[in-house]
Amino acid sequence: CMQVATNVTEQKHHVTREIRGRNLGLCRGFRGCTVWLTGLSGAGKTSIAFELEAFLVSRGIPAYGLDGDNVRTGLNKNLGFTPTDREENIRRVAEVAKLFADSGVVAICSFVSPFSDDRDMARKIHKDSDLKFFEIFIDTPLSVCESRDVKGLYKKAREGSIQGFTGVTQEYEQPVKPDLVVNTEGFTVWESTYNVIKLLEKENVIP
Ligand code: PPS
Ligand code: MG
Repeated sequence: CMQVATNVTEQKHHVTREIRGRNLGLCRGFRGCTVWLTGLSGAGKTSIAFELEAFLVSRGIPAYGLDGDNVRTGLNKNLGFTPTDREENIRRVAEVAKLFADSGVVAICSFVSPFSDDRDMARKIHKDSDLKFFEIFIDTPLSVCESRDVKGLYKKAREGSIQGFTGVTQEYEQPVKPDLVVNTEGFTVWESTYNVIKLLEKENVIP
């Protein structure tokens, strides 16, 4: 059972979002939000996240990519891949992304995040703080991810040396109503990323 913090009260910042937007960065205005990329291992989440991060930064828009492989060697190094640990992984990352977004940064999260309830939790954490949250499904079929097998993980999972591997021995629940579906099969990383850029332009995150 989990410990809970008691006798804790929210502390209000002096700097409002309006003040951050007016004073910080090259692109005036508050643009903090979270872009959440979900999909199978090998779908292209990291590639698209880092391409998007580079594009935004080149335009003077503060952006930072939080990636599963990286977060799991630091903040979340005590978590594995059981459904319970994945839920806690997503909860912590969503809370961190919320803080990045609140500070005016575009937080780009690339996590398998295979369970709908966990993604809904991530969305709720943002909505409760009145921050935009975009759920983006990187819709690469399992057969394609497996044929890429960039890290050799599918091979290991098929051989039985990885427990609970998404798409092989654990479920991936496809998003029902994502804000955007991105295809990667037959497209370059830039072409796939451009679909996300168009969404962010429509939503006035990119001026
Ligand atoms: S999750 O489900 O959101 O908590 O997973 P995430 O934090 O994104 O971590 C996924 C990366 O961890 C590696 N890996 C696994 N993925 C899925 N299932 C299992 N069992 C597993 N074991 C290790 C893998 O490198 C994932 O990265 P990507 O970029 O998705 O391939
Ligand atoms: Mg990755």
